[in-house]
Amino acid sequence: MPTATPPARALHLASHDTAGIVALADKYLTPNYKNAPIVFVRGEGPWNIAEDGKRYLDFSAGVAVNALGHGHPDLVAALQAQVALLIHQSNYWHNAHAAPLAQNLCDRFEQATGGVKARAFFCNSGAEGTEATVKLARRYHAKTLGKPRPGIITMQGSFHGRTYAAMTATAQPKYQDGFEPLVPGFKYAKFGNLASIEALIDDQTGAVMLEVVQGEGGVCVPPAGFFRDLRKLCDDRGLLLLLDEVQTGLGRTGTFFAFEQEGIVPDILWLAKALGGGVPVGAMLAREPVAQALVAGCHATTFGANALATLAGRVTLAVMDRDGLVEHSRDVGAFLLQRLHQEFDGRPYTVDVRGRGLMVGVAIQGDPKAVVEAARARGLLVSVAGANVLRLTPPLIVDRDHCDFAARTLREAADDVLAP
Ligand SMILES: Cc1ncc(COP(=O)(O)O)c(C=O)c1O
Repeated sequence: MPTATPPARALHLASHDTAGIVALADKYLTPNYKNAPIVFVRGEGPWNIAEDGKRYLDFSAGVAVNALGHGHPDLVAALQAQVALLIHQSNYWHNAHAAPLAQNLCDRFEQATGGVKARAFFCNSGAEGTEATVKLARRYHAKTLGKPRPGIITMQGSFHGRTYAAMTATAQPKYQDGFEPLVPGFKYAKFGNLASIEALIDDQTGAVMLEVVQGEGGVCVPPAGFFRDLRKLCDDRGLLLLLDEVQTGLGRTGTFFAFEQEGIVPDILWLAKALGGGVPVGAMLAREPVAQALVAGCHATTFGANALATLAGRVTLAVMDRDGLVEHSRDVGAFLLQRLHQEFDGRPYTVDVRGRGLMVGVAIQGDPKAVVEAARARGLLVSVAGANVLRLTPPLIVDRDHCDFAARTLREAADDVLAP
């Protein structure tokens, strides 16, 4: 009797030429993404390989996700072993990885804050971390403190995700257009401007939510001292300080948490993107006693704390520690910034070169999308942030040669488009 090819193997072997996949996507996927016509089939470290064999140096990393690069041997081996053992069970029981990952993250929080204790809630994405944070902040005021203060102040140009509360927190009209009515209770201040935050506080305000460095808004670095002043304002007015570290966290800006560079302690922070090295997992960390407001049954998510995802988080953190990737991000990030300055300073279209660690942006006069396409044609992947910023968020494993290539290639691409 002929043996049938196992289904997974058959899927893997099926011929997926680029034109065929693009045609299927055009026909069957909802049209909310404008995918470039490239089908990636493989990754090796900081490189991505497309179906047609072309190699690209990945300075986007799935938008700050693949911290260990692609196909990292430790992550691959651990995931393969875990898949064979257990992929998923529900939060009715424990698995072997969620609690140890929580311990790891809470220990880091405690260390970064000089002894502040926290607890972790796991979810699957950045937006889910935002939702959990909004719910916890409101519930803490309503139940623990006994006085509802549902108002949350967020920042113009922010990005917190696409679900309803996250989209409402995201103070950029283009992301909200057509989705009204939004979630009530949000007001928008200016990032880096304490007076504009203070002006919005009233007796309903319970929290201030912001990124440490605005990512999607254009790699906007806060002014010196702003976060210290904001922490004091929150303390004086009884407000929770909620830090979205979905993009900035996990070594991206050169310290494990970006808030460490600001000398403050948040009440709640949340992570996602890099945590699973590409496997979807997010985590909200809430300091005590705020965390206690999430009593049994009041919040949950089916896939949160999933064995495979939390194992991926443990391996990602272990590799980061073993290989010193946080320090590396700071050092090689400084080199990348310097090389970008060398390439872009003095060009007629350059507005600014800025960033922290390996979260770097080049603001230009002109269409950043056209430059991103030109860079791609030259074998470099970067993304657009804000209206006019070329954003570089490479894997934390890149070396100086990669940064050198990226800085030079991006400038050549910008010249192609903006100064031919
Ligand atoms: C700061 C920040 N928060 C939240 C999110 C939303 O994350 P996700 O797309 O995983 O829902 C993002 C995504 O880019 C982000 O950059």
